[in-house]
Amino acid sequence: MQLLINKKISNALEDAGAPLGSFADVRQSSKQEFGDYQVNGIMSIAKRLGIDSYTFAKKVSKIINLNGIEKKIEVIKPGFINIFLNNCFLEEKINKISVSNECLGIQKEISKTIVVDYSAPNIAKEMHVGHLRSTLIGDAVVRVLEFLGHKVIRVNHIGDWGTQFGMLIANLERIQKGLSNTALMNLSNLEKFYRESQKLYDTDKEFAIQARSYVVRLQSGDKFCSEMWKQLVDISMIQNQRNYERLNVSLTHSHVMGESMYNDMLPDIVTDLEKKGLAKQDNGAKVVFLDEFKNKNGAPMGVIIQKHDGGFLYTTTDIACAKYRYEQMDADRILYFVDSRQHQHLMQAWTIVRKAGYVPKHVSLEHHAFGMILGKDGRPFKTRSGCTVLLKDLLNEAESRAMKLVESKKPNLKADEKINISNIIAIAAIKYSDLSKHRDTDYVFDWDHMLEIEGNTALYIQYAYVRLISIFTKVGLSIDSFKGVIKITCKKERALVMKLLQFEEVIKSVSVQGQPHILCNYLFELAGQFSRFYEVYPILIKQNILLKQSRLQLSALIAKTIRQGLSLLGIRTLNNI
Ligand code: ARG
Repeated sequence: MQLLINKKISNALEDAGAPLGSFADVRQSSKQEFGDYQVNGIMSIAKRLGIDSYTFAKKVSKIINLNGIEKKIEVIKPGFINIFLNNCFLEEKINKISVSNECLGIQKEISKTIVVDYSAPNIAKEMHVGHLRSTLIGDAVVRVLEFLGHKVIRVNHIGDWGTQFGMLIANLERIQKGLSNTALMNLSNLEKFYRESQKLYDTDKEFAIQARSYVVRLQSGDKFCSEMWKQLVDISMIQNQRNYERLNVSLTHSHVMGESMYNDMLPDIVTDLEKKGLAKQDNGAKVVFLDEFKNKNGAPMGVIIQKHDGGFLYTTTDIACAKYRYEQMDADRILYFVDSRQHQHLMQAWTIVRKAGYVPKHVSLEHHAFGMILGKDGRPFKTRSGCTVLLKDLLNEAESRAMKLVESKKPNLKADEKINISNIIAIAAIKYSDLSKHRDTDYVFDWDHMLEIEGNTALYIQYAYVRLISIFTKVGLSIDSFKGVIKITCKKERALVMKLLQFEEVIKSVSVQGQPHILCNYLFELAGQFSRFYEVYPILIKQNILLKQSRLQLSALIAKTIRQGLSLLGIRTLNNI
């Protein structure tokens, strides 16, 4: 609807004398009295034209041709145009959706190849709470893009390269030769293994020499070191995969494309950047000076792409990887779900990428940054003893809290049912509490709130779904096969129909902005509107078959939209709680 109205308004704007391509800025109205859609762009266009905005809005409103889908068009000072749609149009549209085979009437987009870089934990370290946001937000956006018909390539850009692998290989070798107390199985405690390796490196001279020689051997493709390296990657990724599965995240082993993959490209990239006059020798290192970024003294910032000892950097890898994603993967759009603290790093890498012509302008490189997860004290979320919270511990705690909740509410359920329900609730709570926040900002992790049934929580939406399903089971019907004609008979029904028709707009904004909280808010509002409707209006009305059918069809569409919306967030629904 938004697209349709936007197009019609843009035409009217042009006919009224606005410059070609003027931005109509049509949005869903913020309040009911402003109609269904409001045109916000008039004021700035009038200003540019140097004319009175109210007069201009009046002129535009007379030209607008909406083919009768409107009930009325109102002009409000200083120059807003409010559009009220008529009920027949809404009924026609919603009833088309009920019978269409396409999922909830959502039109697929022209398929693009979209590479999405998310999760990206580091090898030989356990995933911790710091990896949660990238993993969850990235996975929700990937699902939305796929749902809209795009070819999505998930990439798990794991940190599997760097000098630390020398000490890790040396320590793994010790363990395998039985020279260490740490049994191989204890690698399940990767944190300990990493710390132990670091300690040996710092205190044992011979070990450190060995470790350094392994770095060189690994980089030159030595067989032994490569095999040991592979073992480390595999052990880590098996553990990470367990986290993905518990979280219902769609990443698998096949999506791993770590930093190491670009290693062979790096020497040529440095040579090429030198040839193009972008990289220069500076104190033995190779550096690209960028006017776009200033250092402390206000001079162009130098970005090192090769150290004096020949080693490459994280930035060099990201230059290569953007190039690869365009050239080899044919990406039309490349999305990075990476911590906001890496913004400058990515911008520098991409400035170099653009200057070198590795990725053309029409292919977007998008940093979808996010803030941190904080504890209740407003500082980075830590365990009571001040350590980083491991992801597996976080999930364990969520599951045990959810189990307590299930036990208190449904003590008579069978044990395996309790486990199943509490796992679904736990994961939903963790995911939703993250996804529902605007990703740009930090947020406070709050166990109590996320498991509440009231408020903007997963459980609230899941509960609305359960209520909807129970209406249908009561009369032996199913939301998927029910067919009835929707008729708008009251304000609340109209608002629900309107909301359902806006699902497509919401999904499309998530796909453009990479902001799943838009979908969360939508589902929360839809669930809320339905619950308030259900409190006042009966659905299974005996005396009026047509009204009953209409309300059942409306309920079926609400249920399907909630189920589809939650599934795009990677959250499961329950059929009863
Ligand atoms: N492994 C990195 C980290 O933990 C994140 C990688 C993000 N992706 C990228 N292309 N740089 O900080």
